[in-house]
Amino acid sequence: MFEALQAEFGIPQALSVVAGQNDLPKVVLTHASGARAEVYLHGGHVTSWTTAEGDELFFVSRESYFALERPIRGGIPIIFPQFGGGPLPQHGFARISDWQLISTALRDDGDISATLLLESSPSTLALWPHYFRLELEMQLSVSSLTVTMRVDNTDDNSFGFQAALHTYFGVADIHKTAVYGLQGVTLIDSLRDDAREDETREVIRFAEETDRIYLTALDQLHIADEGHGRTISIQKQHMPDVVVWNPWIDKAQRMRDFGDDEYLRMVCVETGIIAATRVLPAGERWEGKTMFTVGV
Ligand code: BG6
Repeated sequence: MFEALQAEFGIPQALSVVAGQNDLPKVVLTHASGARAEVYLHGGHVTSWTTAEGDELFFVSRESYFALERPIRGGIPIIFPQFGGGPLPQHGFARISDWQLISTALRDDGDISATLLLESSPSTLALWPHYFRLELEMQLSVSSLTVTMRVDNTDDNSFGFQAALHTYFGVADIHKTAVYGLQGVTLIDSLRDDAREDETREVIRFAEETDRIYLTALDQLHIADEGHGRTISIQKQHMPDVVVWNPWIDKAQRMRDFGDDEYLRMVCVETGIIAATRVLPAGERWEGKTMFTVGV
């Protein structure tokens, strides 16, 4: 299977399809600078993004499952068509579905891209009775990774959906981690009965479990990973909401696919249509994207 995908989509020195953990197919993008990204077809899941110097920017739990019926813990889980709990599996079915690789490219400017597709099938229709196509495009350049989600309503009727990139950033020490850019934004605090308040802090730091949905945040925010001496900027488009999540000590212990001490080395800053459902009329497309850029 890898051989056929490699023959069809491989690009010498830039893109290959190889066996990942548990033999799950993995697409590896390698920029001429040395920057790399890895994407599993299981879940359409980015599991790694490394700088030209070889520094990993994402977190993946050492306890993660790499199994067909389970989401990977870390990287970028793709949330669709439901965020959180509800009638569908938690955070929707995209992160536990098998995706197809449909195109790859090495552009003139040296950027490398891979596009994956998930479309309605008997198993998605049994869970969620709507015909759709969901494309996910990853574009790797020297210091950024851009992920674009495109939802096409291929049904005869409109449907409502949520969609998000549930990105896990790797940090040296959560006590030396700060999120900037959310001051003044109204938030829903999932740990306080969904209480609504306005974020007063210019700088968000972490000293306890955090699980907050920021409603219609500005499109530019950044994470200072002070322990590593680096900053990751997040530039989003048509993905209004942001979730900031860290499970802290007790929840880390309750999660089977997460190490007890791993809350110290990650933070999730998620972007998407999260707080409310977006209605997409029949035949229409929604596109949202987030660009992550690393700097010092
Ligand atoms: C976050 C939610 O987005 O995802 C949290 O706000 C949740 O409440 C977390 O715990 C992880 O979810 P899951 O399903 O991957 O364990």
